[in-house]
Amino acid sequence: MASKPSMENAMTQNNMVVSNLSKRFGSLEVLRGIDTRIDSGQFISLIGPSGCGKTTFLRIIAGLDEASSGEVRLKDRVIRQPGADRGFVFQSDNLLPWRTVFDNAILGLEIAGRVGEAERKRTLDLLKLVGLSGFEDYYPRQLSGGMRQRLNLARALAVDPEILLMDEPFSALDAQTREIMQTELMRVWEQGRKTVLFVTHQIDEAVFLSDRVFVFARRPGRIQEIIDIDLPRPRPLDIKRTPKFVAYVDKIWKMIEHDVRESVLHEHV
Ligand SMILES: Nc1ncnc2c1ncn2[C@@H]1O[C@H](COP(=O)(O)OP(=O)(O)OP(=O)(O)O)[C@@H](O)[C@H]1O
Ligand SMILES: [Mg+2]
Repeated sequence: MASKPSMENAMTQNNMVVSNLSKRFGSLEVLRGIDTRIDSGQFISLIGPSGCGKTTFLRIIAGLDEASSGEVRLKDRVIRQPGADRGFVFQSDNLLPWRTVFDNAILGLEIAGRVGEAERKRTLDLLKLVGLSGFEDYYPRQLSGGMRQRLNLARALAVDPEILLMDEPFSALDAQTREIMQTELMRVWEQGRKTVLFVTHQIDEAVFLSDRVFVFARRPGRIQEIIDIDLPRPRPLDIKRTPKFVAYVDKIWKMIEHDVRESVLHEHV
């Protein structure tokens, strides 16, 4: 069930290779010596206590932060800056309030200088895929939180990235909307099978969505364990009540419980 980060199977399927990645902010060592390989089309969740460096890890992959040492390769290219091969969905949506749903969704393509008839059609298709057909002319303020998140997702998918980076994208949502978004994300993902790196604090969300869960250890952040989630797909929501699912959640909670308690205590002193 569990496996340590492995350097085997390196041959063809590798989409992303992280080698000896470390990050410091001044004297603070945030990430230490991360090595991992991620196959194309895998859904990976990152879980770990607050402050262990999950966002920093994603930002380095996004090209928004620079590693202190080590590197990330995407299909053999070393990542140095943001690019259309990576799409981001952050915790707080960064929709532009003065642009309509459609104009927000096509923004990434516009920035990449790729707006033709095919791209406009693709954007409309994606809005349909995330259930926003008919809302193309709405403004963000006229949408619910769940709709805004789905628009964020459509915008990230519009540029057709090789990797989708998602940093706690559903944390602002209520529990019911969040479950709906999880199934929506699964449905969209099943159709395109992008590589996804998904940060969450909710263990059941990680187990429900993922092929593998990377459990991060507290400072300096590193991958403590990789859990393969051996559950069939597609996964209905009620899979969350099966003994196997619950066993995965328990196992991961036991791994991070100590670190989570520590990080909470430290943040309050
Ligand atoms: N730009 C920065 N300058 C200095 N320190 C930073 C910077 N960004 C992050 N840090 C520090 O790096 C550490 C890791 O932060 P990061 O945001 O990556 O954690 P995280 O795992 O995403 O936490 P959370 O679960 O709370 O979102 C924290 O101690 C934070 O204070
Ligand atoms: Mg974070």
